[in-house]
Amino acid sequence: MAIENVNVKVKINGKERCAKVEPRTLLAHYIRDDLGLTGTHIGCDTSQCGACSVMVDGEVVKSCTVLAVQADGSEITTVEGLGDVNNLHPIQQGFWEKHGLQCGYCTPGVMMAMVGLLKQNPNPSDEEIREGLEGVICRCTGYQFIVEAVKHAAQIMRETEVQLVGEER
Ligand code: FES
Ligand code: FES
Repeated sequence: MAIENVNVKVKINGKERCAKVEPRTLLAHYIRDDLGLTGTHIGCDTSQCGACSVMVDGEVVKSCTVLAVQADGSEITTVEGLGDVNNLHPIQQGFWEKHGLQCGYCTPGVMMAMVGLLKQNPNPSDEEIREGLEGVICRCTGYQFIVEAVKHAAQIMRETEVQLVGEER
């Protein structure tokens, strides 16, 4: 018996989007393949790498661990929703200025995870940043530059009172 596709509607990066998908479709695939937002990366099949991290209703989730249908009606922010080249979000500026990336594959997920961390803790210590990074894997940077980038982003946000995603910017 054929399984019917289901309509999944979300608000993503401020825009209403919808697509019909198989019920088994993972949120990561829905975002990338059906909505065409390929900044969210898939880096493993064991839910360990965190490259697929996005914000769903203000919480950071690994989008490969959630079915698209479970996110129906949610508000999602992906890396594309943070900022653009002319208007970098502080986390992007931090990574840019402190060389927080090399190949960049992990970077979208790391940024989303760190936005989640800064939402809870606007002034994290090195140790707290490293703890926050436990769910994401970078194969290039050795993490020290990422820690520097996050600290710099936190400082920019405290100084400029820039708001995090999920709030009006
Ligand atoms: S692709 Fe989701 S954790 Fe690796
Ligand atoms: S910058 Fe290459 S995996 Fe992190």
